[in-house]
Amino acid sequence: MAKVTRRTFLGGAAATAAGVAAGPWVLRAHAQSGPVKIGVVLPYTGVYAVLGESITQAMELVFARENWTVAGRKIEMIKEDDEMKPPVGIRKTEKLIDSDKVDILTGPVHSGILMGMRDKVHSSKTILIVSNAGADAISRERCSKWIFRTSFSNWQPNQPMGGWVAKNVSKEVFLTAPNYQAGKDMMEAFKETFVPAGGKVVAEDYPKLGETDYAPYLTKIRQSGAKAVYCFFSGTDAVNFVKQYDQFGLKQTTKLTGAGFLTEPDVLPAQGRSALGVITGHFYTPVLDNPTNQRFVKEFREKFGNKMPDGFACQGYDTAETIVRALKAVNGNTQDKEKLVAVLEKTEFDSPRGRFRFDPKSHNVIQPFIYIREVKEVAGGLNNVPIDKVADVRDPGTGCALPA
Ligand code: BEZ
Repeated sequence: MAKVTRRTFLGGAAATAAGVAAGPWVLRAHAQSGPVKIGVVLPYTGVYAVLGESITQAMELVFARENWTVAGRKIEMIKEDDEMKPPVGIRKTEKLIDSDKVDILTGPVHSGILMGMRDKVHSSKTILIVSNAGADAISRERCSKWIFRTSFSNWQPNQPMGGWVAKNVSKEVFLTAPNYQAGKDMMEAFKETFVPAGGKVVAEDYPKLGETDYAPYLTKIRQSGAKAVYCFFSGTDAVNFVKQYDQFGLKQTTKLTGAGFLTEPDVLPAQGRSALGVITGHFYTPVLDNPTNQRFVKEFREKFGNKMPDGFACQGYDTAETIVRALKAVNGNTQDKEKLVAVLEKTEFDSPRGRFRFDPKSHNVIQPFIYIREVKEVAGGLNNVPIDKVADVRDPGTGCALPA
C-alpha cells in the first residue's frame, strides 16, 4: 500500500472536497478541457512503412492547419508502430484504449490487424476511423457502429476492374496477391465482374506478404500463357514485383494490371520506368483536377520535401478532416459517443478525391469515382493518368444498418 504522507493526505482531501462541492459536472467539464488524444496504430517499419508515413504526414498537415487546436482543445497524436504484426497491433490498441485512454483511434494499414482490433474497439465503444485497412468484413458481418472507414473496402477498387479488364485488356488473366485477407478479398472482388463478363481465370497464386524473390511466381505466369495479370501488391512488395516483372521480360508479352496500390506515388520513384503502361483501379490520383486536390498537392509537396501525395496521404487527409469536423460539430465533447457517431454519419466535405461522405449502412466511404489509370510520363515525372472512371462506388455491405 502507498505510504500516506501529510502532503498526499492534504492534497487528496482537498481534491475530494472540490469534487464533492463542485459535483460530477465540473469533473466532466475539467476532463473535456484537456487535449483530444488521438491514438494512431500504423506500420512505421516493414513492407507497408511508406504507407504509414504518408497517412501520418497528411494527418499532420490538416491538424497543423488548425494550429493543433479544435473547439478549444489541443490535438495530441499518440503514434504506435504496429510493425505489421497482428499481435503487436492488438497490444498497441489495448495500450491506447486502456492506458492512454484515447478519445479517438485511427489506423491500421493491414486488414488482418484491423480484424484483430475489432472486438476490443467494439466492446470498449472506442471510435475508430480506419485510415487504410480494407477488410470487407468490417463493412459487412463484422461491422461496428463505433467504426468508420475513410479509405476503401478491399472490394471497392477491384470490383469495377473485373468487367473493365475483360472488355478492354484480356479475357484470360492470371491473378496474384499476397497471401492474407486483403489479397483474397481483392481477387474475389475482381472475379465478381470479370467472370460474368466472359473472363477466364487461367490460374491464381498467393506469395507470402513481404516476398522479395518473385522469380518462381513469374515463371508460373509465363508458363500459364495468360494474356494479362491482375494483381494486388503494395509498399515494398509493389516495388519488387513490378521491377522483377519487367526484368523477367513479361511486360512485353503479358499486360500488367491491378489494384491501384501497385503504382502509387509512394513506390513509383523506386519502380521507375518498369511501371510505365501499368493499368490500375483507384479512387485517387494526384493529377485530379479539383481545387481541394490542387491545394492539397501544393501544400503537401511544400511541407514534405516535394514528395507527391499518394492515395494513402489522401486517406490521412480525409481521416483528419473527418475528426476535425466531428469535433467542431460536438463542440469538443468526446464523451457523448452516440452523438459523435450521429455526427460522423452525416460528415460531408470536399476531399482531394471529390465529395467525401459515408454510407450510413456500412460506415464506409462512398467513392465518388474509381479511376482506371495508366502510368504515363507527365510533366514532373511518372504518374497515374485516368483513362476511364466508374462513378459512385459503394460497398454492398449493410452491416451497420443492423442493431448494434
Ligand atoms: C490491407 O491490408 O487492407 C491493405 C494494405 C495495403 C494496401 C491496401 C490494403
